[in-house]
Amino acid sequence: MKCGKGGVGKTTVAVSTALYYAGQGYRTAVIDYDGGHSVTKTLGLTGGVRPNHICHAYPKLDVIVVESLSFTSIVQAKEKRLELKEYLAQFPEDFGLVPLVDMVNGFFGIPTDIPALQKFLTLVSMLCKLEDEGYEYVIIDVEPTAGLERLLSNADTTVRSLRNLSNQGMVSLMTIGAKWPDIGAYLKGDYMKKADHYCARITQAVESIVRAKFVLVCIPEYSPVTQTFEVRDIIHRFNGKVSACVVNNIRGEPYEASNIKLLEPHDLPIVQIERRNSLHGGKLTNSKGILLQIGRKVVESIK
Ligand SMILES: Nc1ncnc2c1ncn2[C@@H]1O[C@H](COP(=O)(O)OP(=O)(O)OP(=O)(O)O)[C@@H](O)[C@H]1O
Ligand SMILES: [Mg+2]
Repeated sequence: MKCGKGGVGKTTVAVSTALYYAGQGYRTAVIDYDGGHSVTKTLGLTGGVRPNHICHAYPKLDVIVVESLSFTSIVQAKEKRLELKEYLAQFPEDFGLVPLVDMVNGFFGIPTDIPALQKFLTLVSMLCKLEDEGYEYVIIDVEPTAGLERLLSNADTTVRSLRNLSNQGMVSLMTIGAKWPDIGAYLKGDYMKKADHYCARITQAVESIVRAKFVLVCIPEYSPVTQTFEVRDIIHRFNGKVSACVVNNIRGEPYEASNIKLLEPHDLPIVQIERRNSLHGGKLTNSKGILLQIGRKVVESIK
């Protein structure tokens, strides 16, 4: 898992690490949790990758682009007099958590950033799937501050609201049932059966996120270097562990060495990567050699 700030090379490091593991024969997946399509671009994939699906990219290497997709909320569905069946059909099997949380949100007014939550639930479902299917390495490219914090705190909030609804939501369920019998029946029946299962899946995914080897990425400039300490605090707050700090884009200027020195209190392996002119865009064949070198350095530092 990668952290850093604005163009420092998070995606480059994430993709390099994934390419390296895949090249070593491990079944690997790289997840773009940072919006946009920078992972696919860095991998030189030109054909659009279908969001929220496991897409095969190279031998042993699959890519998942996590995006929040728009959907008709339960409140809108009711306004539009949509059948419950039609509403639920928006969510394929693996995304069953989204309507549950949408209902919790819509009916109980639990304030949630639905797109962020949707992304989070997609990640949960993807991580569980990857684990079930026996992937050996999963690399997540995540924006370090807001994105990371939201990712980890969504876990708590979601599990808590699902549990609350299962434990003491009966009164509320009856109110809903009186107004909308179909939803009342769904919540009392299928929903109740699934809630524990979903809590367990979120917990499983969150545990694997917390167990991840977090890698900080910065460039040898003063403010990105000092920001690594803030990012590390966020990770520690959620009991995560940082394994290494990557300093990317080193040009060999004298002042860079003193900025790199500022990283020493981390007491982490520091991986230094020089600036390479040949890394800018284009086909993977042009950059693969360099990316593999970067990946090897990172992997060796976190062993
Ligand atoms: N060591 C390097 N030498 C030369 N170019 C590099 C190096 N590392 C990264 N780049 C280039 O810098 C740009 C930004 O890198 P990257 O996309 O990995 O950063 P990022 O931290 O993921 O950015 P964002 O915050 O936008 O997600 C890319 O064009 C990449 O090819
Ligand atoms: Mg990026």
